Amino acid sequence: MHHGNVPVRTKGAMDDVAVHRIGVLFVCLGNICRSPLAEGVFRFIVEEEGLGSRFLIDSAGTSDYHIGEGPDPRTVQEAARRGLRLEHAARQLGPPDLERFDYVIAMDASNLGRIEQLARRVGGRAVLHLLRAFDPLAGDDLEVPDPYFGGPQGFADVHDMVERACRGLLAHIREAHAL
Ligand code: 4NP
Repeated sequence: MHHGNVPVRTKGAMDDVAVHRIGVLFVCLGNICRSPLAEGVFRFIVEEEGLGSRFLIDSAGTSDYHIGEGPDPRTVQEAARRGLRLEHAARQLGPPDLERFDYVIAMDASNLGRIEQLARRVGGRAVLHLLRAFDPLAGDDLEVPDPYFGGPQGFADVHDMVERACRGLLAHIREAHAL
């Protein structure tokens, strides 16, 4: 049979359309405590809500201090206590991240300042936020404090606020993208 220029559709009309994954990148200083935790928690919640295929989720650090290292054992232990396994190798934030990700989410004001600095230099389309802007219990303090030099309670507190804020962030993104 001859079809001329009429495209033959053997599959559904949408099959050739690549669905854009919504990119979410979490950023802290070392990329071994707060941001790999936020990455793991956010991915867990996204999968819980059946949206895994709609997202690209990652984390990075503003510094080069711990490149290639896994998450801090204290972060891993607190996450494991709550049934969450973290897998990530630390990497440094770079110019392509601001083009590749729709949302770049900073843990504290210092991280945000560094990301803004990079954005002024190289541009990019990412929207920047502080993670705790989405934590309903944050009050005036919108920072996830750096737990690195503190005790175990710091890691538990960080986990609590990251989990609340990640739920808020996903609700925000679902609303913004009609997901
Ligand atoms: P993170 O924590 O930024 O949450 O990964 C830190 C990890 C390492 C250092 C500081 C913060 N450091 O100074 O090496």
